[in-house]
Amino acid sequence: MTRTLGDAGREKTAERLLKSSANKFYDPEVDIDWDAPLVEGKRFIPEERSSLYGTELWDRLTPEQRIELGKHEMASIATNGIWFEVILMQLLLKEVDNGDPTTSHAQYALTEIADECRHSTMFARMSNAFGCPHYGPVKWRHRMAKILPVIGYGPALYGSILIAEEILDRLQREQMNDPEIQPLVRMVNRIHVLEEARHVTFAREEVTRRIKGMGKVELAYQRWLIAYVSWHITRSLINPYVYKAVGIRPKEGYQAALSNPHFRATLLFSGEKIMPFLDEAGLVGAPGMRLWRSAGLLPNK
Ligand SMILES: [Fe+2]
Ligand SMILES: [Fe+2]
Repeated sequence: MTRTLGDAGREKTAERLLKSSANKFYDPEVDIDWDAPLVEGKRFIPEERSSLYGTELWDRLTPEQRIELGKHEMASIATNGIWFEVILMQLLLKEVDNGDPTTSHAQYALTEIADECRHSTMFARMSNAFGCPHYGPVKWRHRMAKILPVIGYGPALYGSILIAEEILDRLQREQMNDPEIQPLVRMVNRIHVLEEARHVTFAREEVTRRIKGMGKVELAYQRWLIAYVSWHITRSLINPYVYKAVGIRPKEGYQAALSNPHFRATLLFSGEKIMPFLDEAGLVGAPGMRLWRSAGLLPNK
């Protein structure tokens, strides 16, 4: 692949990110004390971020059950995080395979894959430390998403990566210094927030670069694709089976969460940083608007 003048800015960013990655990164295997016991009575997620907070079902739960539900919700978010990261790694590998692997851009893509490998291991260990079953996405969604690395390209591809990264980032930032939260969760969040900041810079620049000069029809496809992927992302965060842990039928719990204005406010909050960026880039528009609202990332009209 020939390098063009337009690649200069891209290379510069990648070089900066490579330097930053070399200076500051974590190895969760050694930087986290996995033998430390969980702290009795501390939460795994802030109460008001629990998907059932404020509902009738919530009112029926004891304080212990509320903490227990938060633990399973956190395990669900973490294992869905693994799923997002595994898809992202495939997309990045495709980038490296399709381009010039000697560029700084490709080298940074490989570095990001290495980061995500460590993150996924970290999330898996955290879920195990909680003693939770493996949640992740529900089966049909997991199967369907296998098509994404095939049909995804262009700004929507990097935009979808940003949705997954930035909505989690926003929630993790809020929790990483909260003294009411389990120290293990705080540390995992802190590590993730620090390393994701570089990924966000990388992906945001790619969105801006790739949307330039795009024709009307292609842009419409990109707008639909990112809205559709984002809808699946927010719908998958909480696996319905988490509710079983506190004696609530999965379907009943999931329905209650979807119609819970507090949970909707959490989703809106999680998208507050990324949505204006995507909007300005031109990726938020018809024919994706209904999906964005249904995903909870834009307010209902
Ligand atoms: Fe990550
Ligand atoms: Fe990332």
